[in-house]
Amino acid sequence: MKKVGNHNSNSRKLFLSLALMLSFSFSSFAQDAAQAAATDAPAAASAGGDAVNGKALFNSNCAACHKLDAKATGPALRGVADKYDKAWLYKWIHNSSELIKSGDAAAVKIFEEYNKSVMTAFPQLSEADIDDILAYTSEPKAEPAAAVGGAASPPGTNVENGSSNNVILGVLALVLVVLVVMLIMVNNVLTKVAKANGIEVAPKVERTPIWKAFVRNQFLVLVTSIFLLLASGYFVYGYLMQIGVDQDYAPIQPIHYSHKIHAGDNEINCKYCHSAARVSKNAGIPSLNVCMNCHKNISEVAETTATPEYSKAFYDAQIQKLYDAVGWDKATQSYTGKTQPVKWVRIHNLPDFVYFNHSQHVTVGGIECQTCHGPVETYEIQKQFAPLTMGWCIDCHRKTDVKMEGNGYYTKIHEELSKKYGVEKLTEAQMGGLECGKCHY
Ligand code: HEC
Ligand code: HEC
Ligand code: HEC
Ligand code: HEC
Ligand code: HEC
Ligand code: HEC
Repeated sequence: MKKVGNHNSNSRKLFLSLALMLSFSFSSFAQDAAQAAATDAPAAASAGGDAVNGKALFNSNCAACHKLDAKATGPALRGVADKYDKAWLYKWIHNSSELIKSGDAAAVKIFEEYNKSVMTAFPQLSEADIDDILAYTSEPKAEPAAAVGGAASPPGTNVENGSSNNVILGVLALVLVVLVVMLIMVNNVLTKVAKANGIEVAPKVERTPIWKAFVRNQFLVLVTSIFLLLASGYFVYGYLMQIGVDQDYAPIQPIHYSHKIHAGDNEINCKYCHSAARVSKNAGIPSLNVCMNCHKNISEVAETTATPEYSKAFYDAQIQKLYDAVGWDKATQSYTGKTQPVKWVRIHNLPDFVYFNHSQHVTVGGIECQTCHGPVETYEIQKQFAPLTMGWCIDCHRKTDVKMEGNGYYTKIHEELSKKYGVEKLTEAQMGGLECGKCHY
C-alpha cells in the first residue's frame, strides 16, 4: 500500500498551501482595517473649535498662500496657535498690516522674514471662524497612515475588491488543481484494482490514424490548402498594412504627466497648455513656465488623488522632477537658476511629406480635440488614439460637412459650389479636401 502514503503527503502539501493563501489574504484585510482606523483617528483631536468647518474655511481663504506643513507664499501654519496667543492671532488675521503698523514686534519680525509680502486682511471672519481654522491647523499630522496606503503596499493588495477577488480566483484555481489530481489518482487506483482482480483492461484497437486518412483524401487536402492560403494572405495583408501605423503608441514620458488629473479632474482647458493649436500648424507642448503658473503653489497632490496604481508619494516625486527641471527650490520658494530640459517623447508624428494644420481644423473647422485625439481627459498616460493613416484623413473629409455659418470667407464659394453639386451642405471632400496637393507637399 505504498500508494496511500503517497496520497497522504500530497494532500498535506495542498492543505498547507491553502492555509498559506488564506492567512495571506486575512493579513491584507487586517492591513486595510488598521489603515482605515488610522485615518479616522486624527479627526477626533482638535483644540476647541470645529476642525471640519475650519478646513473648509482654510481651503477657501488661506490655502492660496499657506500650507499646513510647508512654506508657500506665507509660513507653514500647523501648530501656529501654540506660537502666538489668541488675541494676537485675531488681530493678525483680521488685518495684519494694521498690526505691523502698530509696531508689534512679532508682527514686524515675520513681515520682514517674508520679504514684506502683504497678507490679505480678513475682517469678514468672525472670532469663531478663526477658532475653527486654528483647530484645523492644530490637528496632528496624519503622515504614517498615508505611507501604508501609498508606496509601501504592493499594488493590488489595498483595493478591497481587488484583494478579495484575487483570493476567490486563487481558491477556485486551487480547487480545480485538487480535482484534477484526484481524478488522476482515482484512475490509477481503479486500474490497479482491476489488475489485482485479474480483469483485463481492454487494449487499444489498432485503427488507421486520422492524418493518414486525411492525406489519402485528395479533395480534403485541396480545400484545406486553399483555406490556409486565404487565411494567411489575410493576416499578412493586415500585418503589412499596420507597418508605420502607431495607433495606441503610449511611450513612458520623463515626467509622469497625467491628462486625467489636469484636463479631467481639474478641468484645465486643453488650449491653456496647447495654446498654439488655435493659431498655428502645431499644437505644441507647453513650456515649463506654464506649469509653474500653478505649481509654484502645488508642490504635492491631495491624499484623494492617489490611486492603487499610483501612490501620493509617486505623484509628489513627479512634481519634484518638474521642480528639478526648472530649478525651483521649494524650501526657499525661489529659482536657483540651475535648469535642465525635459525631453518629452513625441507621440503623434506624420511623415514629412504630409501637411497637417491644427488651426485649420480646430479654429476654422470647429472640430473638438477629442474627435482626433480621443477622450484625452481620461488618459492617465497620453497615447495616439487615431491611426493617422491617409484613409483616416480622407474618410473624415468625405463625411464631415464644412462649417459655413459665421465664416464670411466661405459665403461666396459656398453659393457657387452648392449650385455645382446641387446640395445644401458641402463636405470637406467637395471643397477640395481630396486633392493630393492639399495634404502632400
Ligand atoms: C495673499 C496671501 C495670504 C493669504 C490669502 C493668507 N495669508 Fe497668512 N500670511 C501671508 C504672508 C506672506 C505671511 C508672512 C507675513 C507677511 O509677510 O505678512 C503670513 C503670515 C500668517 C501668519 C503668521 C504665521 C507665523 O508663523 O508667524 C498667520 C497666523 C497667518 N498668516 C494666518 C492666515 C490665515 C488664517 C489665513 C486665511 C484666513 C491667511 N493667513 C491667508 C500671506 C497670506
Ligand atoms: C496642464 C497642461 C496641459 C493640458 C491642460 C493639456 N495638455 Fe496635452 N500635453 C501636455 C504635456 C506636458 C504633454 C507632453 C507629455 C505627454 O505626452 O503626456 C501633452 C501631450 C499631449 C498630446 C500628445 C502630443 C504628442 O507628443 O503627440 C496630445 C494629443 C495632447 N496633449 C492633447 C491634449 C488635449 C486634447 C487636452 C485637453 C483635453 C490637453 N492635451 C490638455 C500638457 C497639457
Ligand atoms: C492650471 C494649473 C496647472 C497647470 C498649468 C499645471 N498643473 Fe500640474 N497639477 C495641477 C493640479 C491641480 C494637480 C493635482 C493636485 C492634486 O490632485 O491635489 C496637478 C498635479 C500634477 C502632477 C502630479 C500628478 C501627475 O499628473 O502625475 C504633476 C507631475 C504635474 N502636475 C505636472 C505638471 C506639468 C509638467 C505641467 C506643465 C506641462 C503642469 N503640471 C501644469 C495644476 C496644474
Ligand atoms: C482633425 C484632427 C485633429 C484635431 C481636431 C486636433 N488634432 Fe492634434 N494632432 C492631429 C494630428 C494628425 C497630429 C500629428 C501632426 C504631425 O505629426 O504633424 C496632431 C498632433 C498633436 C500634438 C503633438 C504635435 C504638435 O502638433 O505639437 C498635440 C499636442 C496635439 N495634437 C494637441 C491637440 C489639441 C490640444 C487639440 C484641440 C485644441 C487638437 N490637437 C486637435 C490631429 C488633430
Ligand atoms: C475629424 C475630421 C477630420 C480629420 C480626421 C481630418 N480632417 Fe482635414 N479637414 C476637416 C474639415 C472639416 C476641414 C475643413 C475646415 C474648414 O476649412 O472649414 C478640413 C480641412 C483640411 C485641409 C484644408 C483643405 C482645403 O480645402 O484647404 C487640409 C490640408 C486637411 N484638412 C488635411 C488633413 C490631414 C492631412 C488629415 C489627416 C492627418 C486630416 N485633414 C484629418 C476634417 C478632418
Ligand atoms: C486629406 C489628406 C490627404 C490627401 C487629400 C491625400 N493624402 Fe496621401 N497621405 C496622407 C497621409 C496622412 C499619409 C501618411 C499615411 C501614413 O503615414 O500611414 C499619406 C500617404 C500617402 C502615400 C504614401 C503611402 C502610404 O500609404 O503611406 C502616398 C503615395 C500618397 N499618400 C499619395 C496620395 C495621392 C496620389 C493623393 C491624391 C489622390 C493623396 N495622397 C491625397 C494624407 C492625404
